[in-house]
Amino acid sequence: MSEDTLLKVENLHKVFPGNVYAVNGINFEVKNKQVVVIIGASGSGKSTVLRCINRLEVPTDGNIIFNGKSITDKSVDLNQVRSEIGFVFQSFELFPHLTVLRNVTLSLEMVRKMEPKDAEAKAIEVLSDLDLTDKFDAYPGQLSGGQKQRVAIARALAMNPKLMLFDEPTSALDPELVGYVLDTIRMLAEKGMTMIVVTHQIRFAEEVADWAVYMTEGKIVEQGHAKEMLRNPKEERTKQFLSSTLNK
Ligand SMILES: Nc1ncnc2c1ncn2[C@@H]1O[C@H](COP(=O)(O)OP(=O)(O)O)[C@@H](O)[C@H]1O
Ligand SMILES: [Mg+2]
Repeated sequence: MSEDTLLKVENLHKVFPGNVYAVNGINFEVKNKQVVVIIGASGSGKSTVLRCINRLEVPTDGNIIFNGKSITDKSVDLNQVRSEIGFVFQSFELFPHLTVLRNVTLSLEMVRKMEPKDAEAKAIEVLSDLDLTDKFDAYPGQLSGGQKQRVAIARALAMNPKLMLFDEPTSALDPELVGYVLDTIRMLAEKGMTMIVVTHQIRFAEEVADWAVYMTEGKIVEQGHAKEMLRNPKEERTKQFLSSTLNK
């Protein structure tokens, strides 16, 4: 494995009860500072791949090596894995009864064992970077979808993750708020954050991603350098998917 590889997914399988082959033997890797985008129709297994990477799901078979260590191993420290791999969900998953500031400080105190005042300083720093200075004391219900998603991104970033996973981060947003969240992800890419982004925003993917992966029915149909693959796909199925997504 090259020194530059942060994550390697080998022969990953996830079978759900009822013989649902959600992920059916996939291989890809993410190098440091790379942005990898995963595209594919609904139900093709994209979320399951991300969920296996930070062990929200236990893979049925295969190997995931993160930062030189197997995270599929039974002895792995899940808290450690999850604190090093940030996850941003389509539906934000903020705690509705906690303020913005507390949403960010909570895992710093619980997982990172930071002192409350240090956790607060870190939260203020990260929220300010994402232009949320006037929202520290707001509750999630008082924020727009775009602001909620930025808080969720801030919460993940506060942990200083080595890798960020985004699962359709703009799919639940009103169209006019999509750009606001994509700008944040673009900024992180420019700062050199290593990321895997599941998205239907093909133009954004072309612009920001280094590597693109197209999935169908739990398998990778095609993967390659993002600009090349997204503009000139080789496989017929990729062509069809891209033209149907771009024409939506
Ligand atoms: N917890 C689960 N139990 C059973 N089936 C699941 C579960 N999660 C996902 N699936 C199934 O696995 C397949 C892939 O789902 P998913 O990874 O969510 O796809 P995508 O994110 O590409 O839409 C789908 O057929 C879905 O219904
Ligand atoms: Mg999904």
